[in-house]
Amino acid sequence: MLPHWRCLDIGTGIGTVATWLSRRCPDGRVVATDRDCALLPPAAERDWEALEHDVTTDDFPNRSFDLIHIRWVLSHLRDREAVLARIVRWLAPGGWILIQDLDRFPIASSPDPVYRKVSEAMCDAVEARIGTDTSWARTFPAPLRRAGLVDVDTEAHVAPTGATAMGRFWLGSTDQLRGDLLDQFAVTEPELKHVREQMVNPSYRDFALASVAAWGRRPSPRHA
Ligand SMILES: C[S@@+](CC[C@H](N)C(=O)[O-])C[C@H]1O[C@@H](n2cnc3c(N)ncnc32)[C@H](O)[C@@H]1O
Repeated sequence: MLPHWRCLDIGTGIGTVATWLSRRCPDGRVVATDRDCALLPPAAERDWEALEHDVTTDDFPNRSFDLIHIRWVLSHLRDREAVLARIVRWLAPGGWILIQDLDRFPIASSPDPVYRKVSEAMCDAVEARIGTDTSWARTFPAPLRRAGLVDVDTEAHVAPTGATAMGRFWLGSTDQLRGDLLDQFAVTEPELKHVREQMVNPSYRDFALASVAAWGRRPSPRHA
């Protein structure tokens, strides 16, 4: 990264990554967008620009950013690859994009059959409710190649569940999805209880979602 880069963080949430970017690009510009800016810190407490902007419908001028980051957003959008193609147009020639999304692939190999069943059902329930594709990120970096980018690559990080931060997220998700799991996805009360107990059990460890990252750059004349 260079200090003068123009950076865009899409679907910034509370703006953690925008703050990180602005420290690394003090002579550049950092714009952070979200379709709902309610969680952003007030203007006096940030050194980056915030913009209410829906990535599926709102635009930016072509070639206006040197770096674009979008984490945990695209897999939730039904038209994700068309949205990605639009975002790529906002990159300057030679500019980089980093995308990150969550994928269910670690669940299939769980040694705990009840945890495996309930966790698979949780992913199915999110897909049915929101339209999320919980297996899209496992295809990285192919979507970036399809979008015309070069120098693409990928890596994944898998945080454990149990009495951990990811376990707390998984436990909260069982609360949010409880009705769907019991009524539509053939999960029983004892199975749900088993998973909920393991998510506060300090000696239990398993995996749920992997965070998969992929990056690539827009071709510049040196790639021609
Ligand atoms: C799971 S949060 C991720 C937040 C942040 N990217 C991070 O890594 O911490 C997803 C964010 O994307 C935003 N979002 C969802 N759909 C969006 C859209 N169509 N355009 C812009 N932001 C969107 C949500 O409002 C939410 O803040």
